Amino acid sequence: MRIEDSKIQQFDSLASTNQYCELLNLPEVEEFTVIVARSQTAGIGQRGNHWEAEPGKNLTFSLVLKPAFLPVADQYQLTQAVSLAVADWLAPLVPQGASRVRIKWPNDIYVDDNKICGMLITNRVTGDRLSASIVGIGLNVNQRVFPDWVPNPTSLSLLTGREWPLEELLAGLLAAIEARYEELRRDPPGTLEAPYLARLLRRGEKATYLYQGQTIEATITGVNRFGHLQLVTLAGETLSCQMKEIQFL
Ligand code: BTN
Repeated sequence: MRIEDSKIQQFDSLASTNQYCELLNLPEVEEFTVIVARSQTAGIGQRGNHWEAEPGKNLTFSLVLKPAFLPVADQYQLTQAVSLAVADWLAPLVPQGASRVRIKWPNDIYVDDNKICGMLITNRVTGDRLSASIVGIGLNVNQRVFPDWVPNPTSLSLLTGREWPLEELLAGLLAAIEARYEELRRDPPGTLEAPYLARLLRRGEKATYLYQGQTIEATITGVNRFGHLQLVTLAGETLSCQMKEIQFL
């Protein structure tokens, strides 16, 4: 199945596509509804940051999913499925993308050391299941100049030296997300872990992090069932980190 065009709602300007979805009566919203904005006036990023995107040049959209098949304890698998879908879809569009496109834990998409895509996923819970998820995605496409305060951005256009048609990209990206989402629904739990780890930035490499206010050297070994990043320090200590505890330096 492909996400039907009728489920894609285009807006010229919204404060934030995620915020728009949050205000909908989600139980009445059909799964795979997509809210796209040509421009966001108050795009929301991770950790309460603003998401910067030049109007008309990028993909900024939110997708409503109903992953009732997922227990709340397994919600990280949705993050895995979506980030893997975006990274795998993007890789062939970028020169030498197979080795350059990486997932920066938990769900940023990087090309080398630069961020090309960010995600904001919020979940609604009913009982012990996920009743709805709003998957917000910002992908830098044709923007070539970014404000100084945006840390290490890149875009598809900067990487390839050409302009890209937004509508076609959106269709391809949605199909890729849908395919991984259907795998998640159908396959045994944990199936996507290996391909996700294979794309994980800095996995198996010694690198520097800010952990609980201290600079440390450590190696990422994986991600546990709850989505916590697993690292081993130089001293051989194992760390299990939530997002607010660790920063990549
Ligand atoms: C991040 O900080 O990396 C997450 C960025 C998420 C941005 C997207 S753009 C579409 C959707 N609407 C929002 O307000 N945020 C997400």
